[in-house]
Amino acid sequence: MLDQDAVMTALKTVQDPELHRDIVSLNMVRDLKVEGGRVAFSLVLTTPACPLRETIDHDVREALEGIGGVEEIDIDWGAEVRSTFREGGPTPIPGVRNVIAVASNKGGVGKSTVAVNLAVALGRLGARVGLLDADITGPNIPTMLGIQGGLQASGQQGLSPVEAHGIKAVSLGFVVPPGTPVVWRGPMIGSGVRQLMHDVDWGDLDYLIIDLPPGTSDASMSMAAEALIAGTVIVSTPSKVSIEDARKAVGMFDRLGVPIFGVVENMSSDVFGRGGAREAADELGVEFLGEIPLDVTVREGGDVGVPVVVGHPESPQTAAFIELAEQVAARCSVLQFAGEAGTR
Ligand SMILES: Nc1ncnc2c1ncn2[C@@H]1O[C@H](COP(=O)(O)OP(=O)(O)O)[C@@H](O)[C@H]1O
Ligand SMILES: [Mg+2]
Repeated sequence: MLDQDAVMTALKTVQDPELHRDIVSLNMVRDLKVEGGRVAFSLVLTTPACPLRETIDHDVREALEGIGGVEEIDIDWGAEVRSTFREGGPTPIPGVRNVIAVASNKGGVGKSTVAVNLAVALGRLGARVGLLDADITGPNIPTMLGIQGGLQASGQQGLSPVEAHGIKAVSLGFVVPPGTPVVWRGPMIGSGVRQLMHDVDWGDLDYLIIDLPPGTSDASMSMAAEALIAGTVIVSTPSKVSIEDARKAVGMFDRLGVPIFGVVENMSSDVFGRGGAREAADELGVEFLGEIPLDVTVREGGDVGVPVVVGHPESPQTAAFIELAEQVAARCSVLQFAGEAGTR
C-alpha cells in the first residue's frame, strides 16, 4: 500500500552519490505528503550548487516508481548549506558558513579572475556569497567587479561590504587607496585581514571566498590562523613552472593543516597547452577541479568590471566556471559530512 512508511522506505534506498549516505538519514527529505497516488515532499540539498541534482532526481523517481501506486511525484527542491566546524579551531565568522581560499604560489596565473568568477557563479546558482580581497600585493577585485566605493559604515553593525553582480565584496584596496605603496608587513597584514573578516557585517553567507596574496606570505599564514578555512582552491596554468609553484602551495597548506579542495587549471588552450595541472593534481594526490579556457572575454570581463560569468552567461568559459563552482561546493559538503574537516 502506498503510504508514508512505504515512501520513506523507498527513499532510504537513494544515496547521495558524493556523501555516500541515504537521503533520509541526511535529513534531505522534509514535509512528505502522500495523497492517493500523489507523493509530494521537499528535497533539501547541502548546496544550491549541487552538481548531482539530476542524478538524485532520477534515483528518487526510480525508487518511488518501484513501489507501485505512485501516479505523481512532486519535489520541491531547496538547499541548506551547513557550516564548517572544527573542534578547537579558529573562531568562525558569525553568519559565515564556509570560508574558501583561492591561492597560487605566483601572481599572474588568474587567481583573482578565478576568485571573482567562482564567487559570482556560486551566487548565480543560488548561494549567498561574499568575496574578500586579501591580496595586498595587488587588490584587483574592485576593478574586476566594477566597484569604486570603499566600505560603508552601517549603523552599529560596523562596516558593510559593497554589493556587485549578486555578491558582497570587501577589499584591502578599500582601506589602502590605489597608488599607496604597499608597506604593510607581518602583523599589519594580519590585523588588516582580521578586521576585514571579523569587523565587516557580512550578514548570512553560505560561502566567503578569499583571494589570497600569492605565495607563502604573511597574509596566507595569518589567514590560516584567523579563519576557519573550509578548503583551498589552488590555481595553476598548464605551464611546468606554474605547476611547480602549485606543488609548493599544496605543501604550504598541508603544513598549515588547511584542507585542499584541489587544483584548477586556468588559461587552458590548444596553443599554450592543457592538462598539465590535471597530471600534477593526480601526482600530488589532490582533486582536479576543472579547466578554465584561455579566452579574451575572460580578460575583458576583468578589465571592464563585468565578470565573464555575467557578461557572457552562455559561453563555454562561463560553463567552466559554473562547473568549478559546483565542484567546490560539492567538496565543501563532502568535507563537512566526512566529519574530519581538518584532513583531506
Ligand atoms: N582564462 C583566462 N583567459 C584570458 N585571460 C585571463 C584568464 N584568466 C586570467 N586572465 C587575465 O590574466 C591576467 C592576470 O589574471 P589575474 O586574475 O589578475 O591573476 P592573479 O590574481 O593570479 O595575479 C589578467 O589580465 C586577467 O584578465
Ligand atoms: Mg590577483
